[in-house]
Amino acid sequence: MSANRPALVRANDSDPTLADDADEILRGLSAPQKRLSPKYFYDETGSRLFDEICTLPEYYPTRTERAIMDAYLGEMAALTGPRAAVIEFGSGSSQKIRQLLEGLDDPVAYIPVDISEDYLSSMANAVARDYPQLQVLPVFADFTRPFELPTYTQAPARNLVFFPGSTIGNFERADAASLLDVMRIEAGLGGALLIGVDRKKDPAILHAAYNDASGVTAAFNLNVLRRLNNELGARFDLTTFRHEAIYDEAQGRIEMRLVSCIAQRVAIAGHRLEFRAGEHIVTEYSHKYADDEFAALATSAGWQPERVWHDDAGLFGVHFLTVAD
Ligand code: AVJ
Repeated sequence: MSANRPALVRANDSDPTLADDADEILRGLSAPQKRLSPKYFYDETGSRLFDEICTLPEYYPTRTERAIMDAYLGEMAALTGPRAAVIEFGSGSSQKIRQLLEGLDDPVAYIPVDISEDYLSSMANAVARDYPQLQVLPVFADFTRPFELPTYTQAPARNLVFFPGSTIGNFERADAASLLDVMRIEAGLGGALLIGVDRKKDPAILHAAYNDASGVTAAFNLNVLRRLNNELGARFDLTTFRHEAIYDEAQGRIEMRLVSCIAQRVAIAGHRLEFRAGEHIVTEYSHKYADDEFAALATSAGWQPERVWHDDAGLFGVHFLTVAD
């Protein structure tokens, strides 16, 4: 038994199954523009399909961000300084955090924050096992609202919030600003933020990334209906819906949709949803940011932009910011 086995800190009691979110789901699906939150994509199948998306030739963000981290990790570590406590919002991929922890100068603590308890504790245990000097303190919480940080046994020189993958793109701009605000509160005085942000670019590149030739993104999108069937007793016929992803240039975002190919009624949790032929559910936004635009948004949330790194093709940006005083 490892002496470094982390204890799980519970910040709330939420459970990630769809049944508990029935009201929110029904509200979204009953609105004039039907909506489902992208957070519902990630059951076991959805997480596996997302991992597959990350390896697709058309889906550049994952590999591009990794290459930027590889190339500039030294500069990132120098800006961060020694003895940081790393707070990861979403604790998505343990691969990225390992890359960061190995590049930083003597990090003292790792605090993954996630709503998925099973995933959180298994990944925290694995990180704790492989980095015995590091204090691993997982926090089970919805990171879109302020949460209490655990107490560290070794005092860090600063907190570094880590939010890779351009997950910030899922949030509408006003919500992204409030999430950046929560990050600033959690980072505290002297804190810093390292965040991956997908950039605006040729719409053809974006279109290909979200409409891959092998249909993995389509399967990922449609999987949310299968989840509604399995976990909420809904009766979606998946063969009557198709995946669509469009780039809305005015809004600067990819919009993922599930389009009903026919006029139909679908039963869900004692309700009935009406679809016109061609009517769609919005399942995800993926906002794209010019560097200045992201810097302005972060500034409005109390951050001071310090640095941005790009890949050679300028597809993706990794921003380093500090808490403004
Ligand atoms: C995990 C939100 C960053 O927006 O690119 C990938 C999710 N959706 N393909 C993104 C996603 C379709 C992804 N994020």
